[in-house]
Order: sequence, then structure tokens, then C-alpha cells
Amino acid sequence: MRVLVLGSGGREHALARALRRDPSVTAVHCGPGNPGTALIAENHQLDPADPKAVVELAQRLAIELVVIGPEVVLMAGVGDALRRAGIACFGPDRRAAKIEGSKAFAKEIMAAASIPTAAAYVCESRDEVVAALDAFGPPYVVKDDGLAAGKGVVVTGDRAAALDHADGCERVVVEEYLDGPEVSLFALCDGVQAVPLLPAQDFKRAHDGDAGPNTGGMGAYTPLPWAPPGLVEEVMATVVRPALDELRHREMPYVGVLYAGLALTSQGVRVVEFNARFGDPETQVVLDRLATPLGTLLQACALGALDPELELAWYPGAAVTVVVAAENYPAAPVKGDPITGLDAADAVPDAYVLHAGTKDDFDRGLVSNGGRVLNVVGTGADLAAARGNAYAAVEHIALRGSHHRRDIAEQAAKH
Ligand code: AMP
Ligand code: GLY
Repeated sequence: MRVLVLGSGGREHALARALRRDPSVTAVHCGPGNPGTALIAENHQLDPADPKAVVELAQRLAIELVVIGPEVVLMAGVGDALRRAGIACFGPDRRAAKIEGSKAFAKEIMAAASIPTAAAYVCESRDEVVAALDAFGPPYVVKDDGLAAGKGVVVTGDRAAALDHADGCERVVVEEYLDGPEVSLFALCDGVQAVPLLPAQDFKRAHDGDAGPNTGGMGAYTPLPWAPPGLVEEVMATVVRPALDELRHREMPYVGVLYAGLALTSQGVRVVEFNARFGDPETQVVLDRLATPLGTLLQACALGALDPELELAWYPGAAVTVVVAAENYPAAPVKGDPITGLDAADAVPDAYVLHAGTKDDFDRGLVSNGGRVLNVVGTGADLAAARGNAYAAVEHIALRGSHHRRDIAEQAAKH
């Protein structure tokens, strides 16, 4: 099978790496990919959010499966265009991807399917926002109803700051605050059936101890030794399958990853958000542990032929990924600085480096080219060993001004 992966981050590097392990995958192409994917796959210059360009490239390369990484590509209708052209695609069409692209739509689906989530008001005016904030009380949760990659969300005890954020949004969702640890669960869906991957935990704040601003994610680990038994089955039964059924009844069958961002509150499991794609950087650890061949699995989803009885196989042990971020990430990351030490990091046993935001610069070699620059993955018999290996590898990396969290999986490793 010839596969094309769309996107250019650490998630896409992890996807390409896992696809390469599938004996039925004969070629992995990336559009556009990054310097890391160039080492294991064939990169192609491409705007992955240009449906026509993607279809042309897929036809030229005789691609049999396209795997879509980023949400912007889904929202641009690339899945729709590929399916229209008769090319199998893992990733929902534009209408179904609205489950991520519009928080109001996600809330509507959850209400219709009785999926447990935070109570919320969709507000069209300042008066409605004020009334909603006062109905819930602090801490206030205010969300911009658009695609904002986590940046559209403010959680604050400060009413004035909450109102300020709402003033800057076009349409606002004000939510009940959800207390409790967060879990990311990815389900692979074929429109009708779904199978879950291992749950993972992501670290969204920039600094140790969950301080600092929200980011795209500073690290992740799997499995979750502290998760209650039966969590995955419960989420499949109360969240994933009802959402799939609801979308199918609305004639927007969902083909791709349904990413349930969950809070395990004292009242039970609640959905914080849905995403229509693999989460980054959780994917880097989850795919590391997957023993079932990935290409075959994603192709079954794309063809509507997923076996609902399928039990995925997992390597024993744990994986931890630590994000090395650029100076001043997430505010205004500095780009273009040389990165060294990758070979030494890769040489650490049970550790490897995925490229997230890097670029090959003719004279200077590898330079930073994004906010999240590298994902350093460590594996081991348990979380303590995996995080030890990840951090041992991080030590070798040199990038001026870069920062990373030192507490990824620290608590969980003590469990
Ligand atoms: P979202 O873009 O909806 O995923 O929100 C980004 C982050 O904000 C989430 O991962 C949570 O950490 C936090 N958040 C969102 N909604 C809530 C909520 N209702 N209660 C508490 N925290 C929230
Ligand atoms: N890890 C959070 C996200 O991918 O949205």
C-alpha cells in the first residue's frame, strides 16, 4: 500500500514512522513533511490545505491511502476532494470536522446524543455573556467559537479578564468549569464502527507545575497507570459511539480519528472538547506503543471496513514525549536558530527524536522553524524508565533559548 501523510509536524513524523513499520505499506510519502520525515519517507513540496494540489499529487504518486494530520487541512475540505476523486482518505470531510471547528456544533451534537459535557451557553451578545458568567460563577471558562487550536480558550478567576476575552470573540461559548485530571482518548472510526487507542495525558501549560500560558502541548505519556478500570469502555459507550451515531444520522459519517478530550471530574467523565484529528503530542507516544500495523488499520477505516471486534495489540511498557520548544513559545516563538545534538540524543538507548518545527538551512544545517521544535520520545518498561530515557536524550539537544518542561509524567511515574 502506498500512503501519503499530510502535514509537517511531530505528529506527522510519528505517523510516518509507525506506517513504515507496517509490512503492507510499501511507500510512505509526506506532503510537505519535515527534515525528520525526509529521513524515513519521501517529502513533497505541497500546500496540504489545497484540495486540488493534494488530489493531483496523490494521483501522480498512485497513492492508495491519504492520512490527514492537521485540522486546517480537514477544514479546507481535502477529505471531501479526495473521496470525490475516489482516493481512500483517513480524515473526516469538512462537515463532520466541524465537531472540532465549531464548539457550538460540538455542543449541539453532544446535547442531541446525551453525551456528558460541561453545561454551556452559546452567547450572541454581551448581556448574554454577563448572565452566563454569573450563572456559573468562577472559575470562568470562555471559548471563542472558532478554530483556534486551544488559543481561543480562557480559564480564569478574573471576571474582567473573562469579559475582555469574550469581547474579542465573534460568538462566545461560556462553560461550566470542569475540575479533575484530563485524558485524551483517540478512537479510529470508519463512519459506523470505532476502536479506541490507548488513553494518554497531555501537558498543556507552558511551564512546570501547570504554570504559564496554554500551549499546543508540552509533553505526553501513555499508558495512564492511575486511570480508573473500565474508563476506555465507558468513554466508548457514552461518548464515542453516541457521537458517531449522531453524525451518521445527520448524514455526515465520521471517518478518521475522533479525539475525545476528557475531564475526569468528581461527577464522572465529561467531554472538554472533540478534535477531528490525532492529538499532538499524544500521538507520538500512543503510536509508539501500537503493535497492530497502522496502515492496514487506517485503510480499513477509510474503506468503511473496520472490524468492530478488533482488539488492537500493544507493546508492553510505556512511552513519554518531551517537547523542546523555541524561545518565547507560545507567545512569539523565535525561529531560525541552529539545533545540535540530535545524533547524540538519538544514540541514547530507548529514545529517539521526532521533528516538529525544524527546517534544513543550506549553510547552517538544521534550524528551528516553529514553536514546538522537537519531540523527544523515551520508552521503557514503565513510565519512570521511559521518562528517564526521554530526559537523558533531551540533555544532548542544544537550541539557543529553548525550553522544555521537566515534570512530564513525573506524578504518574510515582503511581
Ligand atoms: P479546548 O480548546 O476546548 O480544548 O480548551 C483548551 C483547554 O482549556 C483544555 O484542554 C482545558 O485544559 C481547558 N478547559 C477547556 N474547557 C474547560 C472547562 N469547561 N473547565 C476547565 N478547563 C477547561
Ligand atoms: N494535544 C492537544 C491537541 O492536539 O489539541
